[in-house]
Amino acid sequence: MSGTPKLSDESLRHFARIREDFTRMMLGYRFGMEQVATRLDILREEFTELHQDNPIEHISSRLKSPESIIAKAARQGVELEIEALRAGITDIAGIRVVSPFVADLYRLVDSLTAQPDITVRTVKDYVARPKPNGYRSLHLILEIPVFLSSGPVQVPVEVQFRTVAMDFWASTEHKIFYKYEGDVPSGLRRRITEAAATAARMDEEMADLLRAVHGDAEGSPVEGRVHDRERR
Ligand code: GTP
Ligand code: MG
Repeated sequence: MSGTPKLSDESLRHFARIREDFTRMMLGYRFGMEQVATRLDILREEFTELHQDNPIEHISSRLKSPESIIAKAARQGVELEIEALRAGITDIAGIRVVSPFVADLYRLVDSLTAQPDITVRTVKDYVARPKPNGYRSLHLILEIPVFLSSGPVQVPVEVQFRTVAMDFWASTEHKIFYKYEGDVPSGLRRRITEAAATAARMDEEMADLLRAVHGDAEGSPVEGRVHDRERR
């Protein structure tokens, strides 16, 4: 096009390199995410086949779009450079695991984090310590090695573990939060927090029912165990 300044060969090579680095980075995140999802699938099948006890209702995963990676990097003052992104933006690859019971969350976390090539970067236990609005879930940032032709990379994957009740609450709260663009009227906010308490009671009641049927070992929550791991 006339009037458009022509890019030098050097600039074009520079952009091609950035594009390739970014594509390789996103591939690494996708493979890391798929590997963690597969490990969870294996645990699910094993528990189901051998213990007739399925600890997972469903698993979903998503990769952050390049647009939202760039937007989050800008918000958090993270440089648009591969290593800076890897260190600063830990939820590029995200997995959500929804389980029937609170005890299942800790059981899955224990089994997954015991795997020798998985490293635990952080644990946020919003089940033991809910957020002020009532949000409960167990968040882990794991790292898993991915072997590309260019060599191995440690890929961070954010995994959120929640019960069906926690998930129902979180998706409803999320809808309301977006509807009001974050500025939720105080009356509604109070009801959302009350609903979170109701969901927590539901989880307790379900665990109690399971204990009544199977005896103590099955449904007993083991909250706090992952914290010990975090402190080590
Ligand atoms: P982000 O910058 O949003 O990733 O927050 P953070 O780095 O402080 O991490 P945190 O572990 O608190 O939350 C990460 C994710 O958990 C969010 O992206 C949501 O998916 C979920 N989450 C956290 N708090 C809430 C909440 O109050 N309501 C809902 N619905 N989801 C939440
Ligand atoms: Mg996030």
